[in-house]
Amino acid sequence: MIICHCRTITDRDVHAAINWMRASDHTTLITPGKVYKALGKSADCGGCMSLFLATMRSNPNLEVPMELRNIRCGSTQEKRECKATVKLSTI
Ligand code: FES
Repeated sequence: MIICHCRTITDRDVHAAINWMRASDHTTLITPGKVYKALGKSADCGGCMSLFLATMRSNPNLEVPMELRNIRCGSTQEKRECKATVKLSTI
């Protein structure tokens, strides 16, 4: 199915790009911009973005890697201990 008509990108292209990025770097954050870049293209009108994102979200390899979750410690005013710090300190 065509996802992006401007750049002729199919759902298979999106899934292939996500799978390739995840296989080559398991810690990478995958964004629509990175998918376009991996396909050698760039967005034009942006009209496909909701379908593009829905297609990306349907790929199980899109998940944020476990080691990158909860790393925003210190960016808030909260005094709670960072979960990532707790995990690292128990190792
Ligand atoms: S339809 Fe995808 S950029 Fe226009």
